[in-house]
Amino acid sequence: MSNDFDYAHSNKNVIWMSQNTNHLPTHSAVQEAIRKSSDEREYTKYPLASGLPELRELILNDLNLPEHDLHITNGGTEALYCLMRHIQPKGSEMITSDPSYFVIHKFAKLGGAKCTDLPIYNGNYRFDIEDIKNAINPNTKSIFLIDPINPLGSTYPKDEKRAICEVAEDHDIWVIDDITYRDFAPDHHLAADLLPEKTITAYSVSKNCGLAGLRVGSLVGPKDFIKDVRGTMVSDLGINVVGQRASIAALETKPEWLPGLLKTARHNQSLIKGAVDKIDGVELPVYPSAASMMVIDISKHKANPQDVQDKLLYENDIFVRAGNYVSARFGENFIRVSFSIPTPEVEKFVDVFPKVMDELS
Ligand SMILES: Cc1ncc(COP(=O)(O)O)c(C=O)c1O
Repeated sequence: MSNDFDYAHSNKNVIWMSQNTNHLPTHSAVQEAIRKSSDEREYTKYPLASGLPELRELILNDLNLPEHDLHITNGGTEALYCLMRHIQPKGSEMITSDPSYFVIHKFAKLGGAKCTDLPIYNGNYRFDIEDIKNAINPNTKSIFLIDPINPLGSTYPKDEKRAICEVAEDHDIWVIDDITYRDFAPDHHLAADLLPEKTITAYSVSKNCGLAGLRVGSLVGPKDFIKDVRGTMVSDLGINVVGQRASIAALETKPEWLPGLLKTARHNQSLIKGAVDKIDGVELPVYPSAASMMVIDISKHKANPQDVQDKLLYENDIFVRAGNYVSARFGENFIRVSFSIPTPEVEKFVDVFPKVMDELS
């Protein structure tokens, strides 16, 4: 696997459709903020540990959660790592899905917690409330929701999200709402609006703002909870100040660039669908996706996901992900592709993908 990344990083021609990153233009204010911070050599000091006040305010405003507090972290990844240390002690359980974003499961397991990995590669391709109810036991401490879900792009209608929050409330467990892809969803509902006292929101500017390389995110939750965890975060000395300045600029200008970005992302999805529809044995389980990526199911085709990934990368310089990265049980069924990239790059995929599938049939 690391060879793929070595190859992709060392080859400037590679089209990245493998990490759900967003390469579409946002606003020139972002680069100006980076330059200004650099020119002023702000990086010589540790930044404020809890995050720059403007950024803290912008994130709470973005979520419209004035009653919550937050800690700025090295991406949503640190937020979730530190959260696991707090709410999933040894012997505890977390309700999780398969497919999922597994590194968070690994963080929980590292502390001796167990993950349920409920299968969701069926039905509506998201948690079924009955499965959650059946999986809860006295050791359960949280429900890990990814909404919209990586890799599938499904999202929860409000009644389903409310039902999940009610179950969490009945059992006095946490809802973890990982909303990394929220801005791509046409209609999204925060668990924190439905169950404010027991929801922790994992926030990120990596995908919506196209700032994955700057590693900025946040752990957002009830004030008492954030007060408890603050002194124990990995980012005890604050996080990259240049990244925080860029995030401020991106969030301040979001209304100016987000609509255009979403338009391009939706158009890109439709181009991929057009290609998929023409290939026998290949389909989209969830369309349209509410995230920046989608799953292409190839289980009825002879090709194997790893071979598709390899052929696309090494023969065509297009980097997609075989399903086993995000699913233990269903990884052989699909590839995952992200589409928050310039349209000409998607057009190349649309041209090449049918040929690759044909060669592998
Ligand atoms: C569901 C989910 N959560 C969290 C993250 C972490 O994002 P970051 O650490 O860049 O904020 C990712 C990244 O792909 C993700 O897919």
